[in-house]
Amino acid sequence: THQEQHNKHHFFKIILIGDSSVGKSNLLSRFCCNKFTLESSSTIGINFTNKTLKINNNQITAQIWDTSGHTKARAITDAYYRGAKAALLVYDVTKHITFVNIQKWLVDLRNHADPNMVVMLVGNKVDVRQPVVVSSEVGKSFAEKESMCFYETSALRGTNVEKVFMDVVDKLY
Ligand code: GTP
Ligand code: MG
Repeated sequence: THQEQHNKHHFFKIILIGDSSVGKSNLLSRFCCNKFTLESSSTIGINFTNKTLKINNNQITAQIWDTSGHTKARAITDAYYRGAKAALLVYDVTKHITFVNIQKWLVDLRNHADPNMVVMLVGNKVDVRQPVVVSSEVGKSFAEKESMCFYETSALRGTNVEKVFMDVVDKLY
C-alpha cells in the first residue's frame, strides 16, 4: 500500500577500502559524528557504524564498515566484502602510491564483491597545502575509465564528505 511504501526501511552495507593512512576512518567519523582526529591511529580489526538517514519519509540505515588498509589485515576480506552494496575506494591526493594501489584494491573488490556494487573513487586530503601529486584530472579520468563516480574530499574540513555518502545512498535507494 501507499502507507507501507512510505514506511519502508532500507538497509545498506557500505565499505571503505584503500591504503593505510588515506583517511578512511576520519571520513567515516566526519560523516557519522562530525568528528575529525588529527593524530588518529591505524584501525584495528573491523568496525562498523550505523547512520540513520531520512529520505522522502523513508528511513535508511547506512551501515558503514571500516578496517585497516595494512596488507596484513587482508585475511578478513571475505566477511568484509560480503553483502556490501557500495564501496568507497579511498586514496590520498598527496601520496601517489596510494593512488597506484587503487588498482590493487579494485582487483580485490572485483574478485570479492557483487558486480552491481556502486563504487566511488575518493581522493581525500584536498585541504593539504603540500603539492597535490594526484591531480583532479588524473583521478577523474581513471574513475571514468573504470566506471566509478569520483569525489575529492577533505575529512579535516568536511569538504564533500556528506556529499559522497549521500550520493552513494541516493544511488542505492
Ligand atoms: P588505516 O586505519 O591505517 O587504514 O588508516 P585510515 O585510512 O583509516 O586513515 P585515518 O583516518 O586514520 O587517517 C590517517 C591520518 O591522516 C590521520 O593523522 C588523520 O588525521 C589524517 N587525515 C585524514 N583525513 C585527512 C584530511 O582530509 N586532511 C588531512 N590534512 N589529514 C587527514
Ligand atoms: Mg582507519
